Amino acid sequence: MKKILVVFGTRPEAIKMSPLVKKFEEYPDVFETRVCVTAQHREMLDQVLDFFEVEPHYDLDLMKPGQNLYGLTAAIILGLKDVLEDFNPDFVCVHGDTSTTMSTSIASFYNQSKVCHIEAGLRTNDKWSPFPEEINRQVTGRIADYHFAPTTTSRDNLLKEGIKDDTILVTGNTVIDALLESVKKIEENPSDIVVNLDKLIGDEEVILVTGHRRENHGAGFERICEALKEIAVSKPDHKIIYPVHLNPKVQEPVNRILSDVKNILLIDPLAYQDFIWLMNRSKLIITDSGGVQEEAPSLGKPVLVMRDTTERPEAVDAGTVVLVGTDKELIVSETLDLLNNQDRFNRMSELHNPYGDGKACERVAKFIMNV
Ligand code: UD1
Ligand code: UDP
Repeated sequence: MKKILVVFGTRPEAIKMSPLVKKFEEYPDVFETRVCVTAQHREMLDQVLDFFEVEPHYDLDLMKPGQNLYGLTAAIILGLKDVLEDFNPDFVCVHGDTSTTMSTSIASFYNQSKVCHIEAGLRTNDKWSPFPEEINRQVTGRIADYHFAPTTTSRDNLLKEGIKDDTILVTGNTVIDALLESVKKIEENPSDIVVNLDKLIGDEEVILVTGHRRENHGAGFERICEALKEIAVSKPDHKIIYPVHLNPKVQEPVNRILSDVKNILLIDPLAYQDFIWLMNRSKLIITDSGGVQEEAPSLGKPVLVMRDTTERPEAVDAGTVVLVGTDKELIVSETLDLLNNQDRFNRMSELHNPYGDGKACERVAKFIMNV
C-alpha cells in the first residue's frame, strides 16, 4: 500500500487537485489517500471543497486576514510537521506555485517523504514576475522527486534545469479534468446564483474580469480599474462583471474606483461551478489569473491577460490569449479592438486546447502506482 498525502491551500490548487484526490480514491487497494488543507484561503477554498465533495482529513485553518508571506510560510511548515509525523506518507502531492506548495515541499523534504509536483515546469525565469510564484515553483522543482508537467514546453524547461527525464511525465493540466467533469454537473443543476445572474444579464454581452496578482497590487490595480472604467463608458451596451478576489489589496481599489460605474457589476467570488457558467456566458475575458487562461481556450473564449510575462506561452502561441500587461491604454485599446473587429474576434475564439484532454489525473495515478 502506498501512503499518499495530497496538500493544498488556495482556490486554484483545490480546483486542480480535487479530481486527483478522487482518482487516487478509485484505487483503495493501491493507495491510502489523505488530504491536508492548509486553508491558506478559507471561503474561496471551502466553495471548491463543497462542490467536489472533498473532506480533508487535516485542516490547518491557517488563513489570517491580510496575511503576509513570512508568517504564512512559517505557519505552513510548522503545521505540516505534525501532519507528516502523524501520517508519515511515502508520497506528498503538491500543486503549482503557492506558498502552500513551496512550504509543504520543504516540510516533506525534512520528513524524507517523496514529493510529487503537479503542474511542474512552468517558468518565466523572472524572479519578480509572477511574484512570489516563480520562485515557489523553482524551489518546489528543486525538491520534487517526480514532476508532472502539463505540456512538453514545461517538460523542456525542467530538462534545461538538469531534471532527469525519467522523473518527468507530461500529463496535460488537471484543470481540464476538473472542467470537463464540472461542465456536465453544471448543466444538470444550475444554482440559484446562476439563475439570478442569467436574469440580470438578460440579452447583454458580458465582459468577465478577474484579477489578484501580487505584482499588480498598488499602481497596477489602479491602472486596471481606470481601464475598466473607460471600457464601460465606451461600451454602455456591455456588462462588465467582476467577481472580486477577497484579498484586501484587491478589494480596496476595485471598490473605490468601480463601485459607482453603471454597467460594471462587482460581485463576491463565485463558486467554481457558477464561475464556469459565467465564463461560458461571456464574450471576452480580461484576467491576470493562471487557471482562467487555461480554462478559457476550452470554452472558446478570447482572453486578455493583464501581465507582462507568462509562464503559459502555449495559449499565446495558440492565439487565444494576448498579453496586455497593466498598461491602461493597451487594456482599453485591445479590448475595444477585439469587440469591434469581428474577424479578429472570430480567429481568437476558435477552439484550441493546448492544456490537456481531461486524463491528467489518471496519468499521475498510474505513474505513482508503478514507481
Ligand atoms: C494566493 C497565492 C497565489 C494564487 C492565489 C489564487 C501565494 C503567495 N499566493 O494569492 O499564488 O494565485 O492565491 O487566488 O501563495 N482572503 C480571504 N478569503 C479567502 C481567500 C483570501 O479573505 O478565502 C484574503 C485574506 O485577507 C488573505 C488574503 O486574501 O490574507 C490573501 O490571501 P493569500 O493566499 O495570502 O494571497 P492571494 O493573493 O490570495
Ligand atoms: N474561479 C472561481 N471563482 C471566481 C473566479 C475564479 O472559482 O470567482 C476559478 C477559475 O475557474 C479558475 C481558478 O478559480 O479555475 C483561478 O483561480 P485564481 O485566479 O484565484 O488563481 P490562479 O489561477 O491565478 O492561481
